[in-house]
Amino acid sequence: MNRRTPLAPATGLMAALALTLALALALTGCSSGDGDRSSGQPELSVTGGYMPRPVSDLGAGFLTITNSGDTADKLTSVTGDISDDITIHKTENQKMMEVTSFDIPADGRLDLERGGSHLMFMDLKHRPQQGENVSIELHFEKADPIEVELPVKETTYNPAQQ
Ligand code: CU
Repeated sequence: MNRRTPLAPATGLMAALALTLALALALTGCSSGDGDRSSGQPELSVTGGYMPRPVSDLGAGFLTITNSGDTADKLTSVTGDISDDITIHKTENQKMMEVTSFDIPADGRLDLERGGSHLMFMDLKHRPQQGENVSIELHFEKADPIEVELPVKETTYNPAQQ
């Protein structure tokens, strides 16, 4: 007997159903994709870094960390060859204080700038001159470490006043 003939209409129906199902899935995928575009990762980039030329064995560093991801992160520590004692400081009432971390909000940024939060370099192993670059590595709670070259600027340099 020939089983193809009686099955033919059913096959057509199955194909139609499969197509409908595929369309439904595509639509579902689309609308759920809207509410769930979370990558679950911070996406960090560093800009505007510099170190004012130190006049003692103490140095400061400034930079901006931008988080274009939808997950917050924290700057937790900084390392570098130029000093074994690099810490992160905030400034309150014109006094600086060491902190254990800085928040980097989701879709936001952390500004380390003159008069505010900064990187603090103690016991510099050498005093870098203007035009040199100081290599540091930023460490985060979630994201991978980021290596940054801080150009050494004149001692009074302040990009906010350029
Ligand atoms: Cu400080």
